[in-house]
Amino acid sequence: MTITTGRVGATDRDPSDRDATARVDHLANLPWPFPDELEEFRYSVNVEPARIPRATRGGEWGRHIVDLGGREYPMIMAERRRILDADPHRVKVRPGMELACWDLLLYYLRDLALSNPGTMHLTEYGDARFHWRNDLLGTDQYFVLGVDDSVPNGPLDFLAREVPDDLLLVIERDGHLYFDAGAVTFAAAWSVSFDVGMDMYEIHAPVPGLTRQGIVARAEHFLRRLPADQVYRRVNWTLSASDSPKLDVSLEELPEWADDIPQMLRDRDFDRVHLRIELEHFIRLPMSGAVTFNIRTFMASLAEIRRIPEWAGQLATVIETLSEPIAAYKGFLEYRDDVVAHLRGQ
Ligand code: HEM
Repeated sequence: MTITTGRVGATDRDPSDRDATARVDHLANLPWPFPDELEEFRYSVNVEPARIPRATRGGEWGRHIVDLGGREYPMIMAERRRILDADPHRVKVRPGMELACWDLLLYYLRDLALSNPGTMHLTEYGDARFHWRNDLLGTDQYFVLGVDDSVPNGPLDFLAREVPDDLLLVIERDGHLYFDAGAVTFAAAWSVSFDVGMDMYEIHAPVPGLTRQGIVARAEHFLRRLPADQVYRRVNWTLSASDSPKLDVSLEELPEWADDIPQMLRDRDFDRVHLRIELEHFIRLPMSGAVTFNIRTFMASLAEIRRIPEWAGQLATVIETLSEPIAAYKGFLEYRDDVVAHLRGQ
């Protein structure tokens, strides 16, 4: 189906889709990462205030900090819980970060309850005791703030099982920011175990040009000055290739996805390519002063994107004009011409 103007609604979905994930309208809440006028993409410190809804050609995004994802929410959370059960090393908390993890849990549960009053409830008893209920997942948990064993596996793991976002915490030491705690199951070709404990320069060393162009220094400067009463966000994007949208393309899972691109090239089946968008939220937490870098990953196939010709055309131009080092870092240098042709319907 081709839609030239207006929004893509639930009724536009193909009724013959059998797979549950295919029945989700991935365009409806997709944080389209490019402004209308953008034709050439460059890295920048592209931050903006959060909690502001953004209308797009596909629908809307960004009203709340956490985008539950509608009917996709239980599917994403089942995947998150499966990964955390199989590999507890996806949660890393360095010494001294315990308070920050509780800070994060409380901030998010309060925010979720306010944003979803019909389904999520936080009762505060006033003496560090709380009761959390999430009717969508069936969670019912009493806990005592600061007492790690009052939630199963500690506060960071607990929150990671309630929200679709990967959770990352940075803390300042000697004028620099360090990534000192995280619960990450959907990393795009990196590993929480490998990166935890690094500073901003070490983390971003693999990204071509980022340090040399001063972007890491500006990003660190921005985050060190982040006020406690304002939440910011940023979008980032890449492509991935697999026969179903694969959220977990972490280095831990490399053997599971390493052959996806070679296989796609052998089959010349570019419908397997997905645009992968990360919506990241920066929040200074009130009790610990730690800053979040929480990542919600959205995916849409090229076939879905082609339903909105303006998006398909813009993505084709962005990919075509991307510098070689960045296309190589993002992992699609060898097949970008095919993607561009596919997006242009050639
Ligand atoms: C305003 C702040 C930030 C900016 C502008 C920024 C920018 C970037 C950019 C441009 C990339 C390359 C992504 C791509 O092309 O797909 C990247 C990757 C990454 N960033 Fe950041 N970043 C920021 C903050 C952070 C923070 C606070 C953390 C961690 C706590 C972080 C962790 C990462 C990681 C793990 C990667 C992947 C690196 C790899 O490939 O090994 N970033 N970032």
